[in-house]
Amino acid sequence: MRLSRITDRIAEQKWLDRVNSRIHRVVTRVLPEGSVKDALHGVWLGHPVHPAMVQLPVGCFLSAAVLDVTTPGSRAARVLVGTGIASAMPAAVSGWADWSDAHEEQQRTGTVHALLNTAGLACYLVSFVARRDRSGRTGSVSGGVGMLFLLAGATLGGELSFRQALGPNHAEDAAHRGPNDWCDLGPLDDFSEGRPEVRDAGNVKVVVLRSGSDVVVLHDACSHLSAPLHEGEVEEVAGHRCLVCPWHGSTFRLSDGEVMRGPATAPQPRLISRVRAGRVEARARTYAGVPAS
Ligand code: FES
Repeated sequence: MRLSRITDRIAEQKWLDRVNSRIHRVVTRVLPEGSVKDALHGVWLGHPVHPAMVQLPVGCFLSAAVLDVTTPGSRAARVLVGTGIASAMPAAVSGWADWSDAHEEQQRTGTVHALLNTAGLACYLVSFVARRDRSGRTGSVSGGVGMLFLLAGATLGGELSFRQALGPNHAEDAAHRGPNDWCDLGPLDDFSEGRPEVRDAGNVKVVVLRSGSDVVVLHDACSHLSAPLHEGEVEEVAGHRCLVCPWHGSTFRLSDGEVMRGPATAPQPRLISRVRAGRVEARARTYAGVPAS
């Protein structure tokens, strides 16, 4: 059976939604919207922080497993297991922050991912205690079982990232999809002041915001999870005009598309725009953000 069939089944388990709505209430109470949650998402880094944070516990636990094979009873293995347990906590918190702004299917997979990791962590706690007197095989055996749980959890983590696309930049393709030449978006007078309007620019949807005789044109699919940004609201945040995503509240600065508030971590691509003879025109930037030739 292909692994994807199993992971698809997990994502289809609607009964998990009742559990998830309870967990969601707790997570949003403990981690309300704000700078702490944004930091856990990785807004400051411009990249999800959870994948980086799990490296430390995974590295510690794997290293301990190697020592268990090469140097049974090693004190260093106990230190590694203890460090792994301690560093798993902040990694888990950042994971729950991302989970709280995910689709239902992603949350179902995420909950099972967290359960497997929790089981793995429990095994490592047993392992840590059992290694106190450097005797017996309980420490290394429970560590080995913990590693199996963590591997299963990591598989679902990969599923979440690569197949269910929680974490990747959903606007990454903007620079590749054009339009490479100036594209007419209609008369300036058709756009109301400060109200987001959706238009087709070649084969991409864009959101247009008018400010007097000026316009800002952004890729319409939110970089977090592809929400239609033209259904969002314009807000002033820290002195900047911003567009707020209707789904999870990511807030993008209109001047350059930068993220002011998460959960998005990647900026929203902004097209180059101009008003010519009373009509709005736009063209894509290249990947590096400079005009396409
Ligand atoms: S889709 Fe989640 S913040 Fe836009």
